[in-house]
Amino acid sequence: MTSTTLHRPPIAIITALRTTLPFLFFLFILLYLINSSKLLIYPPKITTNINCQDHSNPNNHPKTGYNTELKHIAFCIAASSKLWNSRKEYIKLWWRPRETRGVVWLDHEVKVNENETLPDIYISQDTSRFPYTNRQGHRSAIRISRIVSEALRLGLDDVRWFVMGDDDTVFVLENVVRVLNKYNHNQYYYIGSSSESHFQNIFFSYSMAYGGGGFAISYPLAKELAKMQDRCIKRYTGLYGSDDRMQACMAELNVPLTKEPGFHQNDVYGNLLGLLSGHLVTPLVSLHHFDVIDPIFPGMDRVDSVKHLLDSTKYDSASLIQQSICYDTKWEWSVLVSWGFAVQIVRGIMSPRELEIPSRTFSNWHKVSDFRAYALNTRPITRHPCQKPFVFYVNSTRYDESRRQIIGIYSVHRERHPGCRWKMGSPEKIHTIVVLKHEDPDRWLRAPRKDCCRVLPSRKEGVMYIWVGHCGENEVIEV
Ligand SMILES: *[C@@H]1O[C@H](CO)[C@@H](O)[C@H](O)[C@H]1NC(C)=O
Ligand SMILES: *[C@@H]1O[C@H](CO)[C@@H](O)[C@H](O)[C@H]1NC(C)=O
Repeated sequence: MTSTTLHRPPIAIITALRTTLPFLFFLFILLYLINSSKLLIYPPKITTNINCQDHSNPNNHPKTGYNTELKHIAFCIAASSKLWNSRKEYIKLWWRPRETRGVVWLDHEVKVNENETLPDIYISQDTSRFPYTNRQGHRSAIRISRIVSEALRLGLDDVRWFVMGDDDTVFVLENVVRVLNKYNHNQYYYIGSSSESHFQNIFFSYSMAYGGGGFAISYPLAKELAKMQDRCIKRYTGLYGSDDRMQACMAELNVPLTKEPGFHQNDVYGNLLGLLSGHLVTPLVSLHHFDVIDPIFPGMDRVDSVKHLLDSTKYDSASLIQQSICYDTKWEWSVLVSWGFAVQIVRGIMSPRELEIPSRTFSNWHKVSDFRAYALNTRPITRHPCQKPFVFYVNSTRYDESRRQIIGIYSVHRERHPGCRWKMGSPEKIHTIVVLKHEDPDRWLRAPRKDCCRVLPSRKEGVMYIWVGHCGENEVIEV
């Protein structure tokens, strides 16, 4: 058709349109109404295609790495005498007498209770000769940044790595070993992670390992550092903390940060649920700032809740908080598993690319409500009142010898939910979720991949059964 015919259509077409147009218009409105009311009543539908056989054998993989074990790691914990009485409770949660090696560095003597299973306590050297000119920070930063060098001078034998942490840093020891085992300890390595706060990372550096999340320095690098650190520290009197001083010296040594995002500074406030259940596909190495965030499990105190989380490492430390996504196709619910921690059910089918993103159950370090302030992608907890998640926290975990699988019991966290008019079953009726899983200690020796999960048939009222494990061949969360 040419533009002339478009502008001047023949009379016959005009009359035809005159008679049919109102009808077409009416039909269009009708279709629109039907369609939109459907959208209001039902969430968008997608099908899932799940093949229920487990093909892969988890034990079929050669061991790799550098045979690094816990005994090769010296922990250097930065503490202060003022907060020691409360903070030592966090150290007790992960410290294992006669297994873990390392030292707590304090500024002053404290009363020691022989009963407690804690690392040996050392008093740091006097650092008053070093100038400190930062107006916001505290000069203890200089003392703390020197503890790697001081630990080196203790002359502990057979140490491959120095791992730094604060007195409120909690390590998942097996995963510290798993991560360090990937790297050659005879080379220079500075391993850690950034802050969750984009502003913090802009202000300090994306190339800095945050001290509270903990970081690792290989033995030969600690040796190089010790030779120059005191001179280096004197060049950076205006820096704020110990970790930016450390990074300044690393820059002088030409050693970049090797990022391992399982180290967590946790520069957030509020509820950690979204951050943990949206964890990257990497082992959980450390957590921090427990006095700032809400207890990880509602209704429990802070120390007990960390202990409760670590209970899940007893059977499968490698899989702690790892994410799996599946759907209950009968009820049209989305299921988000964070293994050993929590399961969430959301009404409707939400795509994996959305569900996998950390939901903003927490708020940011500068307490401004702006999601651009995070150094990670986040999503709102819910876009529609019907989609407020039903949260089930881990209650207990045990090992079933006969079936050689881990059985986790997750109990509903009762909270108010807004009314929902979607014509589908409410997850309200579920009070317990049972998660079945095989142990998978070698999962990080393979290419990173999430476990698949499948909702199993259940004959028990109010109980949902979920299987979590290796994805079968052709197993896709198909949208
Ligand atoms: C050591 O532990 C025992 C038993 O738990 C307790 O009775 C005792 O008072 C403790 N000693 C000290 C010095 O705290
Ligand atoms: C586990 O469930 C039992 C029974 O409902 C309850 O009494 C107990 O407090 C729960 N424990 C935890 C750690 O949630």
